[in-house]
Amino acid sequence: MQIFLDSANQKEIKKWLHQGVIDGLTTNPSIMFKDGVYDIEQGARSLCTLFGERPVSVEVTTNDCNQMVEQARTFARWAQNVVVKIPVINENGESCLGVINTLNREGILVNSTAILSFNQAILAAKAGATYISIFAGRVADEGNDPTVIIRNVRQWLDAWDYTAKIIVGSIRTVMDIQAAALAGAHIITIPPQFLAKMVDHKYTRDTVRQFNQDADKALTQIAEVRAAAAAAGRSND
Ligand code: E4P
Repeated sequence: MQIFLDSANQKEIKKWLHQGVIDGLTTNPSIMFKDGVYDIEQGARSLCTLFGERPVSVEVTTNDCNQMVEQARTFARWAQNVVVKIPVINENGESCLGVINTLNREGILVNSTAILSFNQAILAAKAGATYISIFAGRVADEGNDPTVIIRNVRQWLDAWDYTAKIIVGSIRTVMDIQAAALAGAHIITIPPQFLAKMVDHKYTRDTVRQFNQDADKALTQIAEVRAAAAAAGRSND
């Protein structure tokens, strides 16, 4: 399973890239805005450079399907690791599957986003999406269990030999990450604050503290023994 960062915060991104656990990046216009990236092209180019070969998802900013195709073609020229995020439908409920299909036929990688149901997910896969972003937190907001959708979509993809990968996003708690991982997500995209919580544990801190304190005591002990031996040697002279 891969872990992506769900962020546009360069400081956090550099920090977590350095830890060696990050396989890619997802953004959306809200994340860019929250993290102070107002120029999408400049921001996306810079993030793509940071990630090298690893995929960086950048979302279209229009509600019009023809303009989505044009934007996607432009984004794809910014860097070789750009993946274009296309919502499965637009804000009027019009299908964007044709956009996904056109881009796929042109060799542009698509992350089909804002997916909240099994049916949306399988249609996005059929249209040619490389990634299918299931929004776990938003599914749960509506009283549904995201793990059921994740598990069913994964079974369906495997049964019919689709190569599309499930990205689980919209992570709201650390438990969402564990649940998505066990339900069969290929990838989970995680806001940096949850990675910090994932690695931390109070009792691990206490354990490491105890080991360090005992190592210090042992050093003190050795120093005392050596000092005593040296003093004994001097008195024998
Ligand atoms: C990731 O691809 C999504 O854009 C992101 O996780 C959405 O999260 P939200 O539901 O908290 O906005």
